Amino acid sequence: MKLLFILSLVVMPILAGQLDEASYNRGEMLFLSKGCSSCHGAEAEGSTMYPRLANKPAKYLKGRIEKFKAGKTDTPSEQMMAQFVEKLLQKQIADLVYFLSHHKKAKETELDDDLLGGFGS
Ligand code: HEC
Repeated sequence: MKLLFILSLVVMPILAGQLDEASYNRGEMLFLSKGCSSCHGAEAEGSTMYPRLANKPAKYLKGRIEKFKAGKTDTPSEQMMAQFVEKLLQKQIADLVYFLSHHKKAKETELDDDLLGGFGS
């Protein structure tokens, strides 16, 4: 028992700080295979026409996707988004949101997007 207690003190913080690679990778695959990258950019960096998604807070991204999915759309561009998320399963949304909110590459270029536009491609 005592050993378990000590183990939990040591292991839990390590696990909590670690990236969930499996979810991240599934999210990345979905982002590419569902066509999201064709508008939002290969690194989810966005452009003048499409919003950046990389490293936005998970709660915000999830809320936006669920609003589109529920058809609560106010503008033509929101309506357009709805068709891309309407068939996504909750699990897929969770992976996509995880990937986007933890985006690794975009983080490196976050300081100066415009100057580093071609970075990593
Ligand atoms: C045809 C282009 C296009 C595709 C494909 C597309 N989006 Fe979008 N997306 C947009 C546009 C335009 C908006 C801005 C909508 C608005 O707020 O009016 C948007 C908004 C969003 C937002 C809200 C961003 C914010 O900052 O509020 C999220 C999240 C999002 N898209 C996720 C996705 C995901 C995930 C996919 C793939 C399943 C995807 N999009 C595919 C064009 C696209």
